Amino acid sequence: MNYSDDPSRSMAMAQAALSETAVLMEKQLLRLLPKPDGLEERVVEAMRYALVAGGKRLRPFLVLASARLFGVAESAALQVAAAVEYAHTYSLIHDDLPCMDDDDLRRGQPTVHKKFDEATAVLAGDALLTLAFEILASEDTHADPRVRCELVACFARALGTHGMVGGQMFDLQAENRDLDQASITRLQQMKTGALIVFCCEAGAILGKVRDRRRAAIRGYAHDLGLAFQIVDDLLDIEGDSEDLGKTPGKDAEAGKATLVSLLGVDRARTQAEMLVTQAVAHLEVFDRNTDILRALAHFVIKRAN
Ligand code: IPE
Ligand code: IPE
Ligand code: MG
Ligand code: MG
Ligand code: MG
Repeated sequence: MNYSDDPSRSMAMAQAALSETAVLMEKQLLRLLPKPDGLEERVVEAMRYALVAGGKRLRPFLVLASARLFGVAESAALQVAAAVEYAHTYSLIHDDLPCMDDDDLRRGQPTVHKKFDEATAVLAGDALLTLAFEILASEDTHADPRVRCELVACFARALGTHGMVGGQMFDLQAENRDLDQASITRLQQMKTGALIVFCCEAGAILGKVRDRRRAAIRGYAHDLGLAFQIVDDLLDIEGDSEDLGKTPGKDAEAGKATLVSLLGVDRARTQAEMLVTQAVAHLEVFDRNTDILRALAHFVIKRAN
């Protein structure tokens, strides 16, 4: 048996790697934050508040792992990883607003609109998103402007109307409606999967790789992203607030259309496990070591938060 296919060793390996990423990222995220000192300072305080609360840093981890797989310098990967985590944090701040999921707890502390106010939460989200694009466009990210353009274009697609924003709209429109499995899968691919695909593809973009390895890493990310959201939905039922750092039970209360609401807990879990097996199978084309990506796939289904 491959080292990373032993479930408990895989979990330990993934958790250690995520903790290492978290330490690196905290420094990087604070380093790239603007430092205003006028009346606009409040928005940066809210950005910092949301960022340092933690989170698994799964997306930055994927960017760094993909960069390693494609032989890209870590300095470039850290820039993209920060951009992705800023954008992800923006999506969480807005997702928690009263007009969206109306949540009071995130990453174990009051949501940004609770701690500050709604206007500040909207602006902090906007500022994180625009900062993310500024970083991708920076020469510190890549010397070649064509690479920077490709990063910006792919990132915009992952986050826009065909990606996360479209998926969030779909998610709200789907409340209290009966969606079939294909529609729920599309919703989840857009709201969560698209950004995860970008994270994994980023290493190939930075490394100017266009061969079948790029399709393979996209395939891995596609399946991993879907499994990740199914588990998020399972944890909303099975998890507890202490572990999750957010309030469970909100999806059923809001009538969210999820695979769990459609298929039930057991079949949804089986679907997530099947997706993770499929994700790992995409890694076969690589001649480099992919143990860490395999371990992460196991982590995605076994995680408690
Ligand atoms: C939560 O993402 C939002 C979803 C897309 C399901 P994470 O579970 O990665 O949240 P953090 O970053 O660890 O807080
Ligand atoms: C959110 O999905 C996906 C985003 C794009 C933020 P959820 O609404 O299920 O995420 P949580 O459970 O609040 O973290
Ligand atoms: Mg939501
Ligand atoms: Mg939510
Ligand atoms: Mg959720």
